[in-house]
Amino acid sequence: MSEPLPIAVLVSGTGTNLQALLDTVHGREAKIVAVASSAAGVAALDRAAARDVPTRVFARGDFESRAARDETMAAWLEQRGARLVVLAGYMELLGDSFLERFPAGVINVHPSLLPAFPGLGAIEQALAYGVKVFGVTVHFVDGGVDTGPVILQRALELPDAREPTEVLAALRPLEHALLPQVVRLFADGALAPDPGNPRRMLIDPQAHVVGEG
Ligand code: GRF
Repeated sequence: MSEPLPIAVLVSGTGTNLQALLDTVHGREAKIVAVASSAAGVAALDRAAARDVPTRVFARGDFESRAARDETMAAWLEQRGARLVVLAGYMELLGDSFLERFPAGVINVHPSLLPAFPGLGAIEQALAYGVKVFGVTVHFVDGGVDTGPVILQRALELPDAREPTEVLAALRPLEHALLPQVVRLFADGALAPDPGNPRRMLIDPQAHVVGEG
């Protein structure tokens, strides 16, 4: 097997997606070399520390500007050797200067079927709209809000859902399956843009794709 892919994970809160990565790909296809948080004292930092993964907090208020925060954070992630950056519940926008420093990839997990319901409160937006099908998207990050090329999506019918907490609980297992799966595909070199439509990510059919999880 080839060397694990060094990845960084950016978090802001509970860190259940980080935990899914720690429990699945970490030490196998990938090695989480850094966890950066936009907030101090969050559970995600404890999850990383419990597995001896180096952590740092980059709170927006500690920097002159978002660009300065991005710059310092990018430098630390580069120094740790990260080749892929995974946003796992990271609640801040990243500027172009950050994205340009990780040209191989920055990916995000979002609790809706994009392009429906981008941005904050995706589940609340979906409930307010009255949809019957919810879902999860893992996508590459570009300069927009949840606008980058889609890598994997999975839908879930919840025709009677009323409460955001209920939808979130139902979507969690989908997120925890899809995000590690995308990291595996990336580490395998199994993702490539369709030459006919660079927004469409092709997945190598030979790649090991885990089914329902
Ligand atoms: C997830 O629902 C993710 O889709 C969204 O933020 C949440 C993070 O949860 N972007 P956790 O911190 O991974 O538990």
